[in-house]
Amino acid sequence: MRKLAAGNWKMNGLRDSLSEIGTLSETHASPAVDVLICPPATLITPARAAATASIAIGAQDCHAVSSGAHTGDIAAEMLVEAGASAIIVGHSERRSDHAETDAMVKAKAEAAIGAGAIAIVCLGETLEEREAGSTISVVAKQLAGSLPDGATAANTVIAYEPVWAIGTGKVATPEQIAEVHEALRIDLQDKMADGSDVRILYGGSVKAANATEIFALPNVDGALVGGASLTAEQFSPIITALEAAS
Ligand code: PGA
Repeated sequence: MRKLAAGNWKMNGLRDSLSEIGTLSETHASPAVDVLICPPATLITPARAAATASIAIGAQDCHAVSSGAHTGDIAAEMLVEAGASAIIVGHSERRSDHAETDAMVKAKAEAAIGAGAIAIVCLGETLEEREAGSTISVVAKQLAGSLPDGATAANTVIAYEPVWAIGTGKVATPEQIAEVHEALRIDLQDKMADGSDVRILYGGSVKAANATEIFALPNVDGALVGGASLTAEQFSPIITALEAAS
């Protein structure tokens, strides 16, 4: 399986940020892993133009239907046409800011796949859920509810992102990450014929300083990186660490 270093720029970036993608393209001309940057929707087309073929461009969300009266929303087909080859769905910030349920996330993931994009389905527990000892049951329920029909290892990626570790500088311990990724792997093997080959990313304060330790863990097939994906200087060593672990 080819590992995946994915960057989620969230609501950050104007045109001058495109130079970061140009730098990444030069530094990683033929990477040994898949490299993906998901800028804001406004930058997808110029990002695609700024990147070489070695860097994929993705989106951060999509609507579940392909067209209609949904002011402000963007359909998966539109994102693909703009240059996105992957779409993040169910990020915890979408789940909390926009009250997205597992059923909505599943519908969005199916829309992404239907449009020909890879769906990156995010899940993860809150601090309260972890402290209550329900992490494994919470992520199992999210996976069962959010996994798109027709999911294959080629069209679906899972991102485990503990909510309390996102943007906080707090990283889950290697034991915590390994435990959840193993549980997800077993569930995926149960639910899918090629569940052993589905990439499971870790996300939550991944940086150059902790990437090597995280990438050495079993069932960690890459990372979904927020803050440290905003500059080539910070994201590049994460890509290199993932290549070293491949
Ligand atoms: P972070 O974000 O790397 O800034 O913690 C990760 C994410 O939300 O995908």
